[in-house]
Amino acid sequence: MELLCIQSQEHPQLPLAELKAVIECETIQTGIEVVTSGLVILKDIPEDNLDEYYKILTKRLGYTHEVHELILKSSIETLIEDISSVDWSNYITETFAVRVKRFNSEIDTVATERNAGSVILSNCDNIKVKLRNPKSLVRLVAFENTVYVAVEKIKLNKKHFEESKPHKRPFFYPGSMSPKLARCMVNLSRVKEGQLLLDPFCGTGGILIEAGLIGCKVVGSDIYWKMKNGTAINLEHYGITDYRTFNLDVRELKMYEKVASVVTDPPYGISTSTGDIEGNDIFKEFFHSIYNNMKDDAYLCMASPHYVDLKPMADEVGFEIVEQYGIKMHRSLTRIISVIRKKLD
Ligand SMILES: C[S@@+](CC[C@H](N)C(=O)[O-])C[C@H]1O[C@@H](n2cnc3c(N)ncnc32)[C@H](O)[C@@H]1O
Repeated sequence: MELLCIQSQEHPQLPLAELKAVIECETIQTGIEVVTSGLVILKDIPEDNLDEYYKILTKRLGYTHEVHELILKSSIETLIEDISSVDWSNYITETFAVRVKRFNSEIDTVATERNAGSVILSNCDNIKVKLRNPKSLVRLVAFENTVYVAVEKIKLNKKHFEESKPHKRPFFYPGSMSPKLARCMVNLSRVKEGQLLLDPFCGTGGILIEAGLIGCKVVGSDIYWKMKNGTAINLEHYGITDYRTFNLDVRELKMYEKVASVVTDPPYGISTSTGDIEGNDIFKEFFHSIYNNMKDDAYLCMASPHYVDLKPMADEVGFEIVEQYGIKMHRSLTRIISVIRKKLD
Protein backbone atom coordinates (compact mmCIF):
# COMPACT_ATOMS: atom_id res chain seq x y z
CA MET A 1 0.00 0.00 0.00
CA GLU A 2 1.12 3.54 -0.62
CA LEU A 3 0.58 6.98 0.87
CA LEU A 4 0.96 10.15 -1.15
CA CYS A 5 2.21 13.23 0.72
CA ILE A 6 1.80 16.75 -0.63
CA GLN A 7 4.29 18.96 1.14
CA SER A 8 4.84 22.66 1.62
CA GLN A 9 7.38 24.18 -0.73
CA GLU A 10 8.26 27.03 1.59
CA HIS A 11 11.65 25.47 2.31
CA PRO A 12 13.74 23.24 0.01
CA GLN A 13 14.72 20.63 2.64
CA LEU A 14 12.81 20.95 5.91
CA PRO A 15 9.50 19.30 4.84
CA LEU A 16 11.28 16.13 3.69
CA ALA A 17 13.66 16.13 6.65
CA GLU A 18 10.67 16.39 9.00
CA LEU A 19 8.89 13.50 7.26
CA LYS A 20 12.02 11.33 7.41
CA ALA A 21 12.50 12.09 11.11
CA VAL A 22 8.91 11.04 11.91
CA ILE A 23 9.28 7.87 9.84
CA GLU A 24 12.48 7.08 11.76
CA CYS A 25 11.25 7.71 15.30
CA GLU A 26 7.86 6.08 14.77
CA THR A 27 9.56 3.08 13.06
CA ILE A 28 7.24 3.36 10.08
CA GLN A 29 8.04 0.56 7.63
CA THR A 30 8.15 2.18 4.22
CA GLY A 31 10.30 3.16 1.26
CA ILE A 32 10.44 6.86 0.37
CA GLU A 33 10.14 8.01 -3.25
CA VAL A 34 10.54 11.73 -3.85
CA VAL A 35 8.66 12.37 -7.10
CA THR A 36 9.52 16.05 -7.15
CA SER A 37 9.92 18.81 -4.57
CA GLY A 38 6.65 18.80 -2.58
CA LEU A 39 5.47 15.36 -3.70
CA VAL A 40 6.52 12.20 -1.87
CA ILE A 41 5.25 8.62 -2.05
CA LEU A 42 5.60 6.27 0.90
CA LYS A 43 5.80 2.81 -0.65
CA ASP A 44 5.54 -0.83 0.43
CA ILE A 45 3.44 -0.17 3.53
CA PRO A 46 2.00 -3.38 5.00
CA GLU A 47 -1.80 -3.22 4.67
CA ASP A 48 -2.32 -3.83 8.39
CA ASN A 49 -0.22 -0.78 9.29
CA LEU A 50 -1.69 1.68 6.82
CA ASP A 51 -4.36 3.25 9.04
CA GLU A 52 -2.04 3.56 12.02
CA TYR A 53 0.71 5.22 9.95
CA TYR A 54 -1.84 7.52 8.32
CA LYS A 55 -3.01 8.68 11.76
CA ILE A 56 0.52 9.26 13.03
CA LEU A 57 1.58 11.29 9.99
CA THR A 58 -1.50 13.50 9.95
CA LYS A 59 -1.28 14.10 13.68
CA ARG A 60 2.40 15.03 13.68
CA LEU A 61 3.55 16.72 10.49
CA GLY A 62 3.80 20.51 10.17
CA TYR A 63 5.24 21.05 6.70
CA THR A 64 3.07 18.41 4.98
CA HIS A 65 -0.26 19.73 3.72
CA GLU A 66 -2.08 16.57 2.71
CA VAL A 67 -1.68 12.81 3.08
CA HIS A 68 -3.65 10.48 0.78
CA GLU A 69 -4.06 6.80 0.18
CA LEU A 70 -2.72 6.21 -3.31
CA ILE A 71 -5.13 4.15 -5.41
CA LEU A 72 -3.38 4.04 -8.77
CA LYS A 73 -0.87 5.69 -11.03
CA SER A 74 -2.16 6.76 -14.44
CA SER A 75 -1.35 9.17 -17.27
CA ILE A 76 -3.16 12.20 -18.67
CA GLU A 77 -4.28 10.14 -21.71
CA THR A 78 -5.58 7.06 -19.85
CA LEU A 79 -6.83 8.75 -16.68
CA ILE A 80 -10.59 8.60 -17.28
CA GLU A 81 -10.45 4.96 -18.37
CA ASP A 82 -8.34 4.04 -15.34
CA ILE A 83 -10.67 5.90 -12.98
CA SER A 84 -13.68 4.04 -14.36
CA SER A 85 -12.07 0.70 -13.47
CA VAL A 86 -11.93 1.52 -9.74
CA ASP A 87 -14.65 0.29 -7.36
CA TRP A 88 -15.29 3.69 -5.79
CA SER A 89 -17.70 2.32 -3.20
CA ASN A 90 -14.54 1.24 -1.31
CA TYR A 91 -13.41 4.84 -1.01
CA ILE A 92 -16.41 7.19 -1.10
CA THR A 93 -19.15 7.63 1.47
CA GLU A 94 -22.18 9.76 0.56
CA THR A 95 -20.57 12.89 -0.90
CA PHE A 96 -17.37 13.57 -2.80
CA ALA A 97 -15.40 16.10 -4.79
CA VAL A 98 -12.55 15.62 -7.23
CA ARG A 99 -9.67 18.06 -7.07
CA VAL A 100 -6.60 18.25 -9.25
CA LYS A 101 -3.23 19.50 -8.13
CA ARG A 102 -0.53 20.15 -10.70
CA PHE A 103 3.22 19.88 -10.39
CA ASN A 104 4.81 21.05 -13.62
CA SER A 105 1.95 19.55 -15.63
CA GLU A 106 -0.18 20.74 -18.57
CA ILE A 107 -3.28 18.87 -17.40
CA ASP A 108 -6.57 20.76 -17.84
CA THR A 109 -7.66 21.08 -14.22
CA VAL A 110 -11.29 22.13 -14.72
CA ALA A 111 -12.10 19.59 -17.45
CA THR A 112 -10.36 16.77 -15.58
CA GLU A 113 -12.23 17.46 -12.34
CA ARG A 114 -15.55 17.50 -14.22
CA ASN A 115 -14.88 14.39 -16.32
CA ALA A 116 -13.45 12.35 -13.45
CA GLY A 117 -16.39 13.42 -11.25
CA SER A 118 -19.00 12.22 -13.74
CA VAL A 119 -17.26 8.88 -14.33
CA ILE A 120 -17.09 8.22 -10.58
CA LEU A 121 -20.74 9.25 -10.19
CA SER A 122 -21.90 6.90 -12.91
CA ASN A 123 -19.86 3.97 -11.52
CA CYS A 124 -21.08 4.10 -7.95
CA ASP A 125 -24.56 4.15 -6.37
CA ASN A 126 -25.82 6.42 -3.59
CA ILE A 127 -23.15 9.10 -3.82
CA LYS A 128 -23.42 12.78 -4.69
CA VAL A 129 -21.01 15.48 -5.73
CA LYS A 130 -20.52 18.14 -3.05
CA LEU A 131 -17.88 20.73 -3.73
CA ARG A 132 -17.81 22.29 -0.26
CA ASN A 133 -16.93 20.01 2.64
CA PRO A 134 -17.45 16.68 0.89
CA LYS A 135 -17.16 13.57 3.05
CA SER A 136 -14.59 12.13 0.61
CA LEU A 137 -11.96 13.97 -1.37
CA VAL A 138 -10.60 12.33 -4.51
CA ARG A 139 -7.24 13.93 -5.15
CA LEU A 140 -5.66 13.75 -8.59
CA VAL A 141 -2.04 14.84 -8.55
CA ALA A 142 -0.49 15.48 -11.93
CA PHE A 143 3.27 15.52 -12.26
CA GLU A 144 4.26 16.12 -15.88
CA ASN A 145 2.28 13.41 -17.76
CA THR A 146 1.75 11.13 -14.77
CA VAL A 147 -1.43 11.37 -12.70
CA TYR A 148 -1.65 9.89 -9.22
CA VAL A 149 -5.20 8.97 -8.20
CA ALA A 150 -5.64 9.13 -4.44
CA VAL A 151 -8.20 9.61 -1.70
CA GLU A 152 -7.94 11.65 1.47
CA LYS A 153 -9.01 9.63 4.49
CA ILE A 154 -7.73 11.91 7.27
CA LYS A 155 -7.23 15.66 7.01
CA LEU A 156 -4.26 17.40 8.61
CA ASN A 157 -5.26 20.19 10.97
CA LYS A 158 -3.99 23.01 8.73
CA LYS A 159 -6.20 25.54 10.53
CA HIS A 160 -4.24 25.04 13.73
CA PHE A 161 -1.08 26.47 12.18
CA GLU A 162 -2.99 29.59 11.11
CA GLU A 163 -4.95 30.03 14.30
CA SER A 164 -2.05 29.57 16.70
CA LYS A 165 0.32 32.13 15.22
CA PRO A 166 2.15 33.94 18.05
CA HIS A 167 0.00 37.11 18.02
CA LYS A 168 -3.19 35.05 18.30
CA ARG A 169 -2.19 33.40 21.59
CA PRO A 170 -3.41 34.80 24.94
CA PHE A 171 0.16 35.62 26.02
CA PHE A 172 2.18 37.37 23.34
CA TYR A 173 5.76 38.60 23.31
CA PRO A 174 7.77 39.24 20.12
CA GLY A 175 10.33 36.64 19.05
CA SER A 176 8.31 33.43 18.91
CA MET A 177 8.82 31.37 15.75
CA SER A 178 6.00 30.18 13.48
CA PRO A 179 4.05 27.18 14.80
CA LYS A 180 4.95 25.19 11.67
CA LEU A 181 8.66 25.63 12.23
CA ALA A 182 8.23 24.84 15.92
CA ARG A 183 6.34 21.64 15.01
CA CYS A 184 9.01 20.72 12.48
CA MET A 185 11.76 21.18 15.08
CA VAL A 186 9.86 19.02 17.58
CA ASN A 187 9.64 16.32 14.90
CA LEU A 188 13.32 16.66 13.98
CA SER A 189 14.11 15.86 17.62
CA ARG A 190 12.61 12.38 17.07
CA VAL A 191 10.49 12.61 20.22
CA LYS A 192 7.47 10.34 20.65
CA GLU A 193 4.10 10.65 22.34
CA GLY A 194 4.41 10.28 26.12
CA GLN A 195 8.11 11.22 26.22
CA LEU A 196 9.51 14.25 28.04
CA LEU A 197 10.56 17.30 25.99
CA LEU A 198 12.31 20.34 27.43
CA ASP A 199 12.64 23.92 26.18
CA PRO A 200 15.04 25.76 28.54
CA PHE A 201 14.44 29.13 26.78
CA CYS A 202 10.68 28.68 26.58
CA GLY A 203 9.61 32.34 26.16
CA THR A 204 5.90 32.27 25.28
CA GLY A 205 5.86 28.48 24.91
CA GLY A 206 5.55 28.21 21.12
CA ILE A 207 7.67 25.05 20.90
CA LEU A 208 6.02 23.45 23.93
CA ILE A 209 2.54 24.00 22.48
CA GLU A 210 3.50 22.00 19.38
CA ALA A 211 5.13 19.25 21.42
CA GLY A 212 2.12 19.09 23.77
CA LEU A 213 -0.27 18.77 20.84
CA ILE A 214 1.47 15.63 19.58
CA GLY A 215 1.18 14.12 23.06
CA CYS A 216 4.56 14.84 24.67
CA LYS A 217 5.00 15.69 28.33
CA VAL A 218 6.57 19.14 28.28
CA VAL A 219 8.83 21.19 30.55
CA GLY A 220 9.60 24.84 29.98
CA SER A 221 12.01 27.10 31.72
CA ASP A 222 12.90 30.78 31.26
CA ILE A 223 15.03 33.30 33.13
CA TYR A 224 12.06 35.65 33.35
CA TRP A 225 9.13 34.87 35.58
CA LYS A 226 6.80 36.72 33.24
CA MET A 227 7.71 34.35 30.39
CA LYS A 228 7.43 31.20 32.48
CA ASN A 229 3.99 32.37 33.53
CA GLY A 230 3.04 33.28 29.96
CA THR A 231 4.04 29.81 28.77
CA ALA A 232 1.69 28.24 31.30
CA ILE A 233 -1.18 30.51 30.17
CA ASN A 234 -0.59 29.58 26.53
CA LEU A 235 -0.29 25.84 27.22
CA GLU A 236 -3.56 25.85 29.17
CA HIS A 237 -5.22 27.74 26.31
CA TYR A 238 -4.39 24.88 23.92
CA GLY A 239 -5.64 22.26 26.38
CA ILE A 240 -2.16 21.01 27.29
CA THR A 241 -2.17 19.86 30.89
CA ASP A 242 0.86 17.57 31.20
CA TYR A 243 3.45 20.30 31.68
CA ARG A 244 5.76 21.92 34.22
CA THR A 245 7.33 25.36 34.08
CA PHE A 246 10.34 26.78 35.93
CA ASN A 247 11.85 30.20 36.33
CA LEU A 248 15.58 29.54 35.90
CA ASP A 249 18.75 30.78 34.27
CA VAL A 250 19.82 28.03 31.85
CA ARG A 251 23.12 27.72 33.77
CA GLU A 252 21.22 26.52 36.84
CA LEU A 253 19.18 23.90 35.07
CA LYS A 254 19.07 20.55 36.86
CA MET A 255 16.17 18.43 35.69
CA TYR A 256 14.34 16.05 38.05
CA GLU A 257 14.46 13.47 35.23
CA LYS A 258 16.67 13.19 32.13
CA VAL A 259 14.73 14.25 29.05
CA ALA A 260 14.14 12.40 25.74
CA SER A 261 14.32 15.61 23.72
CA VAL A 262 15.38 19.25 23.89
CA VAL A 263 13.95 21.71 21.37
CA THR A 264 14.78 25.35 21.77
CA ASP A 265 15.38 28.79 20.28
CA PRO A 266 18.09 30.44 22.41
CA PRO A 267 18.21 34.24 22.61
CA TYR A 268 20.52 36.08 20.24
CA GLY A 269 20.80 39.46 18.57
CA ILE A 270 20.32 42.83 20.17
CA SER A 271 16.60 42.57 20.82
CA THR A 272 16.62 39.56 23.13
CA SER A 273 18.10 39.70 26.56
CA THR A 274 20.34 36.86 27.71
CA GLY A 275 20.49 37.71 31.38
CA ASP A 276 24.08 38.76 32.09
CA ILE A 277 25.64 36.30 29.62
CA GLU A 278 27.93 37.95 27.05
CA GLY A 279 27.07 37.63 23.33
CA ASN A 280 27.54 34.16 21.91
CA ASP A 281 28.59 32.65 25.25
CA ILE A 282 24.94 31.81 25.75
CA PHE A 283 25.34 28.88 23.31
CA LYS A 284 28.42 27.58 25.11
CA GLU A 285 26.76 27.86 28.51
CA PHE A 286 23.65 26.18 27.14
CA PHE A 287 25.58 23.17 25.74
CA HIS A 288 27.41 22.68 29.04
CA SER A 289 24.30 22.84 31.13
CA ILE A 290 22.00 20.77 28.89
CA TYR A 291 24.31 17.78 28.30
CA ASN A 292 23.73 16.07 31.64
CA ASN A 293 20.01 16.74 31.54
CA MET A 294 19.61 14.65 28.38
CA LYS A 295 19.26 10.89 28.04
CA ASP A 296 22.11 9.31 26.08
CA ASP A 297 19.96 8.73 23.00
CA ALA A 298 18.13 12.07 23.21
CA TYR A 299 18.21 14.58 20.37
CA LEU A 300 18.53 18.34 20.67
CA CYS A 301 17.03 20.51 17.93
CA MET A 302 17.90 24.19 18.14
CA ALA A 303 17.91 27.42 16.18
CA SER A 304 20.91 29.76 15.97
CA PRO A 305 22.09 32.63 13.76
CA HIS A 306 24.45 31.77 10.87
CA TYR A 307 27.33 33.77 12.34
CA VAL A 308 27.62 31.51 15.40
CA ASP A 309 29.73 28.42 14.74
CA LEU A 310 28.19 25.75 16.95
CA LYS A 311 30.58 22.97 15.92
CA PRO A 312 33.54 23.73 18.24
CA MET A 313 31.21 24.40 21.19
CA ALA A 314 29.29 21.17 20.56
CA ASP A 315 32.55 19.20 20.18
CA GLU A 316 33.94 20.52 23.45
CA VAL A 317 30.96 19.19 25.39
CA GLY A 318 30.68 15.84 23.57
CA PHE A 319 27.86 16.59 21.14
CA GLU A 320 27.82 15.98 17.39
CA ILE A 321 25.78 17.87 14.81
CA VAL A 322 23.85 15.41 12.65
CA GLU A 323 21.74 17.67 10.41
CA GLN A 324 21.69 21.40 9.62
CA TYR A 325 19.30 23.54 7.56
CA GLY A 326 19.43 27.25 6.78
CA ILE A 327 16.37 29.50 6.70
CA LYS A 328 17.00 32.91 5.16
CA MET A 329 15.27 35.49 7.36
CA HIS A 330 16.52 38.62 5.56
CA ARG A 331 19.60 39.84 3.72
CA SER A 332 21.89 39.72 6.72
CA LEU A 333 20.43 36.89 8.80
CA THR A 334 20.06 33.18 8.11
CA ARG A 335 18.66 31.08 10.89
CA ILE A 336 20.30 27.66 11.22
CA ILE A 337 18.28 24.71 12.49
CA SER A 338 20.60 22.06 13.92
CA VAL A 339 19.85 18.52 15.02
CA ILE A 340 22.40 17.42 17.61
CA ARG A 341 23.02 14.35 19.75
CA LYS A 342 25.60 13.03 22.17
CA LYS A 343 28.67 11.54 20.47
CA LEU A 344 28.64 7.78 20.58
CA ASP A 345 31.76 6.32 22.22
C1 LIG B 1 14.06 33.62 21.37
S1 LIG B 1 13.22 33.59 22.90
C2 LIG B 1 12.35 32.07 22.87
C3 LIG B 1 11.04 32.20 22.17
C4 LIG B 1 10.15 31.00 22.37
N1 LIG B 1 10.53 29.86 21.53
C5 LIG B 1 8.68 31.38 22.15
O1 LIG B 1 7.93 30.59 21.54
O2 LIG B 1 8.27 32.43 22.59
C6 LIG B 1 14.49 33.29 24.08
C7 LIG B 1 14.05 33.25 25.54
O3 LIG B 1 15.19 32.95 26.34
C8 LIG B 1 15.04 33.60 27.59
N2 LIG B 1 16.38 33.73 28.21
C9 LIG B 1 17.33 34.66 27.98
N3 LIG B 1 18.45 34.42 28.70
C10 LIG B 1 18.20 33.27 29.40
C11 LIG B 1 18.96 32.50 30.31
N4 LIG B 1 20.19 32.85 30.64
N5 LIG B 1 18.39 31.39 30.82
C12 LIG B 1 17.13 31.02 30.49
N6 LIG B 1 16.33 31.75 29.65
C13 LIG B 1 16.88 32.85 29.11
C14 LIG B 1 14.38 34.93 27.23
O4 LIG B 1 13.67 35.44 28.34
C15 LIG B 1 13.47 34.54 26.06
O5 LIG B 1 12.16 34.31 26.54
